[in-house]
Amino acid sequence: MQKLKQQITEAIVASAARKFPGAALGASDIAANLEYPPDPAMGDLALPCFRLSKVLRRSPKEIAETLAADLSVPGVADIGAVNGYLNFRIDGTALAARLVPEIMKNDSYGSPMCGTGKTVVLDYSSPNVAKPFHIGHLGTTVIGHSLKLLHEFAGYHCVGINYLGDWGTQFGKLIVAYKMWGNQEEVEAGGVDALVALYVRINNEIKAEEDASLAKNPEGKKSSHLADLARAEFRKLEEHDEENIALWKWFVSVSLKEYEKTYRLLNITFDSYKGESFYTDKMPAEVEKLRNMGLLTVDDGASIVDLSKWNMPPCLILKRDGSTLYPTRDIAAAVYRQNTYHFDKAIYVTSAAQSLHFAQWFKVVELMGYDWYDRLVHVPYGTVSINGMKLATRTGNVILLKDIFAEAISRVEEIAKEKHPDPAECHAIAEKVGVGAIIFYYLSNNRMRDINFMMEDALTFDGNTGPYAQYTYARTCSVLEKAPGDHAMTGAPLSPKESDLVKTLAIFPEKIEAALADYEPSVVTRYILDLCAAYNGFYHDCPILTSENAEERENRLALTAATRRVLGRALHLICMQTPEKI
Ligand code: ARG
Repeated sequence: MQKLKQQITEAIVASAARKFPGAALGASDIAANLEYPPDPAMGDLALPCFRLSKVLRRSPKEIAETLAADLSVPGVADIGAVNGYLNFRIDGTALAARLVPEIMKNDSYGSPMCGTGKTVVLDYSSPNVAKPFHIGHLGTTVIGHSLKLLHEFAGYHCVGINYLGDWGTQFGKLIVAYKMWGNQEEVEAGGVDALVALYVRINNEIKAEEDASLAKNPEGKKSSHLADLARAEFRKLEEHDEENIALWKWFVSVSLKEYEKTYRLLNITFDSYKGESFYTDKMPAEVEKLRNMGLLTVDDGASIVDLSKWNMPPCLILKRDGSTLYPTRDIAAAVYRQNTYHFDKAIYVTSAAQSLHFAQWFKVVELMGYDWYDRLVHVPYGTVSINGMKLATRTGNVILLKDIFAEAISRVEEIAKEKHPDPAECHAIAEKVGVGAIIFYYLSNNRMRDINFMMEDALTFDGNTGPYAQYTYARTCSVLEKAPGDHAMTGAPLSPKESDLVKTLAIFPEKIEAALADYEPSVVTRYILDLCAAYNGFYHDCPILTSENAEERENRLALTAATRRVLGRALHLICMQTPEKI
């Protein structure tokens, strides 16, 4: 469609130059205003002439009518002026003749190819070891991975980084809890759940001790013996105490094994698992640099970077006891990544609750004089609740990511059993459909929107859901399976439903561009729904295999093959699998 838009723009510019000499309308004035009319009855593309009215000093109606007179564009079947709009009806047959071979020949149809020779590092998923990997992480995991796939499709070299939360005082707590109440068999058998249980237990007991200390002495500082022990164990860990290091490594590997199960379901792999711990010895140099540049101020014993000039609270670099903080590590990690990968862009996907954190340390990186500060991009997303319930992370009462996937899979399995009696095959399909349903549902909304997750809605086949999209894909596969071989457009004129499908296929590249520009995978999800609607409309109206007209049959098969290509690609870009049968 972009080519056509360009041709239309050029024709309008030429027409305007003839009819309104001296007004000097540029291509950019026109191109920026060309739009897809909300009501397709008006046309496939339209130029509202209201803004031109000022420049040309005529009414929009007069402008549209004047421009329309003897205007012609190859590939456009009809041009009309209605109420100040210049409307274009695209010739579907001509478009298909050009587009379908392009889709079939070119595996990268739709790629803007803007990333060749460039590197993007993407920091996403990044759960905190020994804390639950919960539904709140769904966003960072699937938005992050989808952004990686989109960038790869655009030609970027991508490095996916799982910045594991594998360091911090929580390990002190976990070590104490494990030594007191845990044992190897239990953790081995229970995996991350056993670790989380220990972590939750010690947090509760610390809280109880603190409450008791306050009850005894309301004026005093709250205190907890267990918390003191935890701090001591963490200090030992920082000092490379052998036993604690061994425990820590084990806790991390147990957790990782568990996360990898979820990643496998989602078909996600990472290029790097360098977590927070990796940057321990890389922070002092950055702290030194900050100090030498005079950027650090001491406030109540803590070292901070004052950001009041930018209307932000200070960025905390060192605590009173000299220990480092979350921003300190992020700064050191960014420097390391720039030195290692020489990224053109570094993308961080986290919940919007962390937006201030990123704005702060991005500013600090700029103040430090790193000239790549403007290549850092934070991609935030809204909150998720389930069936109306908000998450309560503190108490350990959370919905785990793996549980929500397991639930979706088992529900689909229940339905798929009838059609797929072989249990292994049934399970394989249920995995793809169940997991896909969750992803699709989640990625249907703009990422900043807060979502209330409704399992029933995600899983239904009749609605704008993942199962429906995958079913449509499987439908194209089943049609093509019955008519093997290559199919090409014959040039015979297309019916309206066929033309609609072609036009929908034609806007795929623009959707990819928009998704990349806004870091918004939901643009692709919504496009998938448009494409499914166009294909299903075509499928119901236009007999394919049973058509008795050879040319018509061939055209419809070629359109089905092109749809299969584009739909499959689009689904993959939002982390969905594409089973050929459902
Ligand atoms: N581990 C953090 C969390 O679960 C997310 C890390 C995001 N990435 C970063 N570079 N700060 O909240």
